[in-house]
Amino acid sequence: MSMDSEIFVKFLLTRRSIRKFKKDPVPIDLVKKILDIARYAPSAGNRQPWIFIAITDPEIKNKLSKIHRWAYPLEGAPIGIVVACNKDVSPDSYLVDCANAAMYIMFAAHAYGLGSVWLQTLRNIEDIQKILNLPSNYIPVAMIALGYPDESPSPKPRKELKDIAFLNTYGKTLE
Ligand SMILES: Cc1cc2nc3c(=O)[nH]c(=O)nc-3n(C[C@H](O)[C@H](O)[C@H](O)COP(=O)(O)O)c2cc1C
Repeated sequence: MSMDSEIFVKFLLTRRSIRKFKKDPVPIDLVKKILDIARYAPSAGNRQPWIFIAITDPEIKNKLSKIHRWAYPLEGAPIGIVVACNKDVSPDSYLVDCANAAMYIMFAAHAYGLGSVWLQTLRNIEDIQKILNLPSNYIPVAMIALGYPDESPSPKPRKELKDIAFLNTYGKTLE
């Protein structure tokens, strides 16, 4: 493994969901850089059905942070990003396309030393559309709380590779 690969693998394995943020603001130029990188996420047919809404307005951010009980990290985050996808542009793939863009945002944030957490949206689509004035064909797929980390959580447990990876057909161990 080359030095570069090792650094990149370490980068992937050190991302954590961050739910506690420093008060320090995130410069809007940095947010722009992150969203610029997110444009390069893969999408079916390269249709790029996504839009990104950066939220700095405390009132809007607070409303979103109360959308469900697990959305609370947004309240303490200096910035939120909502990834929404136009389902008419990519009816079969918009959810996965948007998930890809959301992961690009989280990895770009990690690359710049920021922390983030994906907050569930799919059970509150209409509420979020209303708060953000989104047209009904734009489905919010991820809300991301973003900021400088104020915690260093341990890695969450992962399933064993032997239980989830198979060779050729389901159930045949990869050994
Ligand atoms: C689709 C999706 C929805 C999630 N929703 C929430 C959420 O509503 N609130 C939250 O605090 N974390 C949420 N998470 C973060 C997960 O809890 C977290 O990714 C998981 O526990 C693994 O931890 P890690 O990201 O630190 O590796 C969500 C993650 C995904 C991918």
